Amino acid sequence: MLRALEGIIRETVFMCGIVGCIGDRRATPILVESLKHLEYRGYDSAGIATLNGAEIDVTKIEGKICDLETIINETDNACVGIGHTRWATHGVPSSTNAHPHVDCTGSIAVVHNGIIENFQALKEELTSKGHIFCSETDTEVLAHLCEEYYNGDLEQAVREALLRVEGSYAIAVISDNEPDIIIAARKDSPLIVGLGAGENFLASDIPAIRKYTNKIIYINDEEIVRITRDSVVVSTLQGVKVEKTVTIADGSIIDAERGGYEHFMLKEIHEQPKALRETMEDRLYELEGSIDFKELRSLEDEIKGIESISIIACGTSYHAGLLGKYILEDLLRIPVRVEYSSEFRYNNVLSGQKSLAICISQSGETADTLAAMNEAKSQGYLTLAITNVVGSTITRKADEILLTKSGIEIGVAATKTFTAQILILYMFGVYLARLKKLTDVETSRNIITSMKSVPGLIESLLDNISTIEKNASRIGETDCCYFIGRGLNYPIALEGALKMKEISYIKAEGFPAGELKHGPLALITADTPVIALVPEGKTYYKMLGNIKEVKARNAYVIAIANASDDEIVKYVDSVIRIPDVDELFSPMLAAVVLQLIAYYAAKYKGAEIDQPRNLAKSVTVE
Ligand code: G6P
Repeated sequence: MLRALEGIIRETVFMCGIVGCIGDRRATPILVESLKHLEYRGYDSAGIATLNGAEIDVTKIEGKICDLETIINETDNACVGIGHTRWATHGVPSSTNAHPHVDCTGSIAVVHNGIIENFQALKEELTSKGHIFCSETDTEVLAHLCEEYYNGDLEQAVREALLRVEGSYAIAVISDNEPDIIIAARKDSPLIVGLGAGENFLASDIPAIRKYTNKIIYINDEEIVRITRDSVVVSTLQGVKVEKTVTIADGSIIDAERGGYEHFMLKEIHEQPKALRETMEDRLYELEGSIDFKELRSLEDEIKGIESISIIACGTSYHAGLLGKYILEDLLRIPVRVEYSSEFRYNNVLSGQKSLAICISQSGETADTLAAMNEAKSQGYLTLAITNVVGSTITRKADEILLTKSGIEIGVAATKTFTAQILILYMFGVYLARLKKLTDVETSRNIITSMKSVPGLIESLLDNISTIEKNASRIGETDCCYFIGRGLNYPIALEGALKMKEISYIKAEGFPAGELKHGPLALITADTPVIALVPEGKTYYKMLGNIKEVKARNAYVIAIANASDDEIVKYVDSVIRIPDVDELFSPMLAAVVLQLIAYYAAKYKGAEIDQPRNLAKSVTVE
């Protein structure tokens, strides 16, 4: 019974961002500012706990960080504090369930990102000992466990509490009995410490505290860290001291401004040419027809011997993976499977000898993808991560990484990271095909030439979006719409539908066009717009046939077609043009169009585009 309950609770988990600071400056503004950078991890409730020496002051609210700002105590001069932004997969977000959580006396406060899987058993045990629980969260047991084990040493109490816990956590704990320390620890949820002069910080990731310091210590699993104003001491849960290296965070302070755009998503859509150029930079050798991934040199022999590939990812990254399958199988003539991370890890995974697992995660923190990568590793796969975030957990766990260079992506709906993931998969395909001597210089040179033209073509597409806006408004008036494509453009149809669902809340589905007659056609009426991806290519005429099928059921059809296609107007109600491009790269241009359609449909409906309901940018729980 208890196990069953814990199973249910596993579904009612919380995914969050945590921060903390200790120094001589007022903690509240630092915590609030840092939390704003973590809203991609959840934004349904938020809270802070500050320590002014005498007692802990907790402020929390259902809502976003901007809502928290409206209720914080402006006169609070505390210089020590912890904070939290939360995302619940189920259950009503509320101020009671918001973190920080405190023990019975309000003397210990805890923020937590992760899942305490055995919390029900612990809660019953603690309740029988007289502890009073206020919330429905798993996290609250941590506060009470620390209270139970507290004997004048907070670090020791946290250590003992964590030894009782099953699951994942990044936590920060403060106590009014020891007002000059913060204790933090992690297992399977990210945690970093930032070093300042006479002040120190902690957070779920670097951007949260980048404004205050660039000196970073990565905390590893089952490590506990004792932070004071001028010291940071790391040890294992078992109490063995750990020497840490300090990493200097790259780049300047992250510019999270919208730069004149109404939403981050629109800004990020427009940043795609730049992101793609930077991802290609120093890696393409057009004349030689080769791609150089310097980062892969030490693994070259192993990579060359690969006989099969599994691509593992979630959400939009999974759609990039689906496209990757078409590209890699075509170029490499070896089997490529694509699996959802959450499915892969629970399958009876086949041995990965001479197999490569390509794990795609823009954030590098998606819990399911990290767990799937571990599973792949344990089955003998060589692991390659494709990610956009330097220093993210996946970069430290994969055998090797390929970075997309899209710059930080704030909008929850992935855009520029998606096209960069596709690009890097194309690049990897050419790289490996050359390594395996499967293509000649001329063939790969031609692919590289087309590849290099893509950013410019996206620029010209972005220069004229009035037809896109017009069609998007029409879709904004409907309840549902469908996306159809074939071959390379089938994954793009799926991604178009996902974008539409995520930000506009319009029911949207993507189908391989050839499958329409096997079921989806039953859904087509005059009220269901169909967006058909029909760029020039080997399935062009098949697509025209499928368009006829939906037209015969009175659907309003919007085609995405090449600029030079004179035929298409005879078949559809409206045409959105993409510049003429090598068939191989039309999906990248079509993807940009579908991002814009979703954006303008959502805008037409007045939806909250950058932070859609119930979602989060990075899903750090399983
Ligand atoms: C969340 C985001 C999606 C993203 C997916 C995978 O669901 O809302 O936009 O595609 O996670 O994220 P990752 O960081 O692993 O690519």
